[in-house]
Amino acid sequence: MKKLFLLVAGIFLFAGISAQKFEHVAPTPPMGWNSWNKYACNVSETLIMGMADAMVSSGMKDAGYQYIVIDDCWQVARDENGEIVVDKDRFPHGMKFLADYIHSKGLKFGIYSCAGKFTCQGRPGGLGHEYQDARTYARWGVDYLKYDWCNTSTQDAKSSYTNMRDALYTAGRPIVFSICEWGSHKPWEWAGDVGNLWRTTGDISDSWNSMIHIFSLQKDLARYAGPERWNDPDMLEVGNGGMTNEEYKTHFSLWCMLAAPLMAGNDLGNMAPEINSILTNKEIIAIDQDTLGRQGVCFRDNGDYQIWIKPLAGDDKAICLLNQGDEKKTVLVDFDLLAKSKNSRWGFYPDKKLSLNDFKIRDLWEHKDVTLKDPSTYIELDPHTVKVYRLIKK
Ligand code: GLA
Repeated sequence: MKKLFLLVAGIFLFAGISAQKFEHVAPTPPMGWNSWNKYACNVSETLIMGMADAMVSSGMKDAGYQYIVIDDCWQVARDENGEIVVDKDRFPHGMKFLADYIHSKGLKFGIYSCAGKFTCQGRPGGLGHEYQDARTYARWGVDYLKYDWCNTSTQDAKSSYTNMRDALYTAGRPIVFSICEWGSHKPWEWAGDVGNLWRTTGDISDSWNSMIHIFSLQKDLARYAGPERWNDPDMLEVGNGGMTNEEYKTHFSLWCMLAAPLMAGNDLGNMAPEINSILTNKEIIAIDQDTLGRQGVCFRDNGDYQIWIKPLAGDDKAICLLNQGDEKKTVLVDFDLLAKSKNSRWGFYPDKKLSLNDFKIRDLWEHKDVTLKDPSTYIELDPHTVKVYRLIKK
């Protein structure tokens, strides 16, 4: 009997140790910078150190951005012991050096690998080396791992990602685990206990059509998001040149309404002031980073014109009016109805106890409080633009 008890206790202890969950690594959507959208395989130590410097000097760190993530192409081979080999020409001092540098700036360090035998750019992937790589990443001081899905053949997504998660838990260094299987196996249904964020679609590109298409695919996913588990509609293209500044404002606003991870993907060292002020708009970022951790929901879908609502902590709410059409629109907005609308993860219901008088209205791009003459007001929306308001509970 005693032996059986010890055996059972031992099993529990082992399970507890080997699958030590990381708490509080992503209570709000992760914010940072990733090399892929602008630099693709053109990564190097100089580039990454420069980005860390610029993240601080540009005010991005102050605005809440934390992670500097090297995407694909930092790795070239495995050595005779199966250890991953860093490209020495591009990263002459190795990854520990880079991690230390990034940490010395008060930032966090992220890296990329893949669940398959090879990454999407044909570099060595993690398959069969999960525990070894997780130990290496912990030794280097990695704080964030993006794990891709190329060259996975018949692998099962959930078990592949769970295997890497367990390897990270076993290595013991708290790491944000970013699942990148492009929504192929509905990760929102199983990844909540596996990773902290999961891509919901294929890759974004730097165009209005790509961005707005990806946005349209997020509509039914709000119920799956929450603290430590976020839908990821892919990284930001803000500042990469393929959209107008107004379109980038829309892109950024929509991602914040979705409680999306905010991974900038532009050259932080050479940002136009207009781009800087989009990426560091603290009032909009506060919508994304709200501690309630709820993803926004579409309240009205009139085709090109949509209204989105995101509930916030303390009974505040964010309202986003979107004109995704190519023509200017004048819309009649009933702010009293919006004030009364409460949303659960599944839909909206009217709260008759509330009225517009219970709220102050703040325009988050104008940075101004709004006083309405009439609760129903005509508002003009240029093509491809948004208005974002915060209804602040008095
Ligand atoms: C995939 C991912 C991208 C990027 C590239 C790198 O396409 O979805 O975000 O990481 O691989 O090769």
